[in-house]
Amino acid sequence: MPDTRRILITSALPYANGHIHLGHLVEYIQTDIFARFQRLRGNQAIYLCADDTHGTAIMIRARAEGRSEQELIAAMREDHLADFSGFQIAFDHYSSTDSAANRSLCERIWQALRQRGLIESREVHQLFDPDAGVFLADRFVRGGCPRCQAADQYGDSCEACGATYSPAELINPVSTLSGTTPEVRSAEHLFVSLEPLRPFLQDWTRNSGALDQRIANYLAGHFLGDPLRDWDISRPAPYFGFEIPDAPGHYWYVWFDAPIGYIAATEEWAERQGCSFADWWSPSEANQPPAEIHHFIGKDITYFHTLFWPAMLEVAGLNLPTKVRVHGFLTVNGQKMSKSRGTFLLARSYLDHLDPAALRYYYAAKLAGGIDDLDLNLEEFATKVNADLVGKVVNLASRTARWLADTGLTASYPEDGGLFAQAAADGEAIAAAYECCDFARAMRLIMQAADRANLYVDQEQPWKLAKQGPAAATKLQEVASVALNLFRQLVVYLTPVLPKLATDVADLLGGPIDNWDQSQTPLTGLPVAAFRPLMRRIESSQLEALLAAAAAESAPPIQLSHSPLIRWLKPAPLMTLPRLTSE
Ligand code: 2FM
Ligand code: ZN
Repeated sequence: MPDTRRILITSALPYANGHIHLGHLVEYIQTDIFARFQRLRGNQAIYLCADDTHGTAIMIRARAEGRSEQELIAAMREDHLADFSGFQIAFDHYSSTDSAANRSLCERIWQALRQRGLIESREVHQLFDPDAGVFLADRFVRGGCPRCQAADQYGDSCEACGATYSPAELINPVSTLSGTTPEVRSAEHLFVSLEPLRPFLQDWTRNSGALDQRIANYLAGHFLGDPLRDWDISRPAPYFGFEIPDAPGHYWYVWFDAPIGYIAATEEWAERQGCSFADWWSPSEANQPPAEIHHFIGKDITYFHTLFWPAMLEVAGLNLPTKVRVHGFLTVNGQKMSKSRGTFLLARSYLDHLDPAALRYYYAAKLAGGIDDLDLNLEEFATKVNADLVGKVVNLASRTARWLADTGLTASYPEDGGLFAQAAADGEAIAAAYECCDFARAMRLIMQAADRANLYVDQEQPWKLAKQGPAAATKLQEVASVALNLFRQLVVYLTPVLPKLATDVADLLGGPIDNWDQSQTPLTGLPVAAFRPLMRRIESSQLEALLAAAAAESAPPIQLSHSPLIRWLKPAPLMTLPRLTSE
């Protein structure tokens, strides 16, 4: 197929020190929808991800749990994969940043940075916990704010007055690992000097088309107008990560090897396919279409993906992202997810009580491709899923399929007043909405078609025809064939969002849905299987059970900011909310 695009798609790599929650799923669900959409359109799309395994937090957690980091990350990987598969997130490959492939790619990119003369070494003063024997990342220190004196603030910023500072400035600092008073110690760190890359970054962020204008403006206004500060890229032992080959006792900071994990995942996948990661990450040969690289990320990690990451790729001579697609955070009932409010919703708890398809649809209906936060309002969630999926889509089949169980579909497609053709013509607008990740618009267009189809059924009243016996049998078969075709057409459009529904409908009629063009031609003369329920209404008891499970999650959340970054870059309004993840 000459027009086939080659699209490499990634989601941010989840940390191996915590379970997947519904906030994470805003990203994985939208990325999976995008990847499935591209495949349905006939493009080659590979969706890659990995566990982000390195860093102090994992080391500390493993220690606290009395097991090795490797044991911890192996167990967490199992849990992550089970959660993702529960939500029908279909990765082509799921790797780990603690892999041999990643280590060797890190070395390669490191050498490129060295060769360009961009690595420098200097002493850094950092708080050290003598009891725990570790240098403390900012979030492992709490103390009084040096500006407003508010007690019990994190090591990098004050929640009361918004000040940012270095942990050494805290009043009476305490290590959260041991409760002892940390000491200031100095250690050698390695830095990447980014200022020589500023002209490249100014051009790429503005002119490559990879970034939304709002993001490009933000970067220009806050970072790229002034000299860029060096990026602290190493951590002294003890640290769980890769030791830097030419700097023994020093480890690459987790944010160096994490994005390289995208390439390592490609390499592992490519090896299985008998091709090379270079087909995707190295400038392409003239005879093959260039690969596209699409990163989906949360807004809190924008700078890593729009400044550091392109800088690393550029220096290493690798392909730059085609698109960095930035999304907002999840709120639940209008507020940040919170364990104390009982709204910290784990993927596993959701799967124990509710249908994953419902959340996939709800998120799709609310994601418009921008960086706005997405609110999960549980009442609205139930109402919308029940009204749209159960009431409009599935209902079309549940009230008509049974009349075709004996006869099958009509031999030719009956007159339907132009309904099928109208929804077929909507296909390009729906596809364009999927393409720019405005899934909300795609869902609106699909639901408008569903409304028209339901109006048709209401007007034709097949249940009355059914009562009229043989005299109305032909008309009944025609009406039911129209309704079922309109239903299947909707399901083709919904396949990226609702893959399980698409599989179930394949069993009902027409076989596998694997091509967007199946929305363009009605089915005729085919058998229709016995109808089996396709989706159930959400009951309030299920939501209550989910909230009860969340309330039972008693430990306080780890609310961490990407502190070294906050020191490196001035905080700015667009990106101030930290994600519920750790370094
Ligand atoms: O913020 C996070 O959850 C990080 N683990 C994301 C890493 S994405 C990539 F760069 F590896
Ligand atoms: Zn303060």
